[in-house]
Amino acid sequence: MKFTRREAIKATAALVSGLGLSKPLLAQAPLNRVTIPSSGQQIPRIGMGCRNYRAEANSPDLAVFRDTFAAYHRLGGKLVDTSPNYGNSETVIGNIMRELKIRDALWVASKVDREDREDGIARMERSFKLLGGEYFELMQVHNLIGTDTQLETMKSWKEQGRFRHIGVTTSSDRQYDQLAALMEKHTLDFVQIDYSMGNRSAAERILPMAQDKGIAVLTNLPFGRGRLFNAVGERPLPDWATDIDATSWAQVFLKYVMSHPANPIPIPGTTKAHHAEDNVAAARGRLPDANLRAEMERFIDPLLL
Ligand SMILES: NC(=O)c1ccc[n+]([C@@H]2O[C@H](COP(=O)([O-])OP(=O)(O)OC[C@H]3O[C@@H](n4cnc5c(N)ncnc54)[C@H](OP(=O)(O)O)[C@@H]3O)[C@@H](O)[C@H]2O)c1
Repeated sequence: MKFTRREAIKATAALVSGLGLSKPLLAQAPLNRVTIPSSGQQIPRIGMGCRNYRAEANSPDLAVFRDTFAAYHRLGGKLVDTSPNYGNSETVIGNIMRELKIRDALWVASKVDREDREDGIARMERSFKLLGGEYFELMQVHNLIGTDTQLETMKSWKEQGRFRHIGVTTSSDRQYDQLAALMEKHTLDFVQIDYSMGNRSAAERILPMAQDKGIAVLTNLPFGRGRLFNAVGERPLPDWATDIDATSWAQVFLKYVMSHPANPIPIPGTTKAHHAEDNVAAARGRLPDANLRAEMERFIDPLLL
């Protein structure tokens, strides 16, 4: 259903007043967006990680994966993140995007994980073949492997229009010294890091640095690979969840990530349509302010001990 002009005015008034929208209106509201500092491009504030899209040719999982992609796309999701390092994920999601004819409607990010220049080139050409499309919105050096070498190729392919943005990824705090040095040395459009209610160390240096330098941020592991769901167990949502329009724990965890001033875009991994729907809904409505963020931290910390 479309948002009428009257509803759009109501939505703006509700956000300005801080009271929020009624549930039916909220469900129809457009997804909140983030502006990528280096390109000015605006994309929805939520992505989807495809690490687990691995299946044999005749596996029944393929239909489940296809339904998840279809739901994500229908609900307004754009950003999908994969890697040649995730089993046959690039093959699987390339086929799904071709089948659903949504390759060009999505914002596709992949990675390269090779030390050697020629190996990196072969790896990235293979990603193009498997995922299709004239260009990738984002190519990332995976886990800082061969970073200087791969970035040289990636910068020249960006100039040729094969990549719209380039960046680097890690999910290990131990790589943050190296990451910070790379953020100083290279002009990066994106960094991808682990940041969640359960692992906030990126907020000490990497996120403020990204903010200062105008580098967009993707956050992998927004659920700590499921650890946050285990921590809260069957607990009901706290009262403050209503103040941020969160109707599930997933939305609470995602909204915490989104509300950091560096504007991180979480890329929760899911292969289930109902989880994709839940996660996309986190990109609507209000986000916690600094006081509520602190309260959320006080809430989760004892549960993670
Ligand atoms: N170094 C790197 O570059 C790096 C490292 C790690 C991850 N990544 C990227 O980040 C993405 C996310 O990482 P991840 O998948 O490992 O961890 P994650 O997003 O923290 O957690 C994924 C887990 O949460 C579950 N889940 C998802 N949505 C849910 C919902 N709404 N309610 C309940 N459970 C939900 C998933 O199960 P279901 O599948 O059953 O939904 C899965 O078990 C990866 O897919 C990948 O693209 C990059």
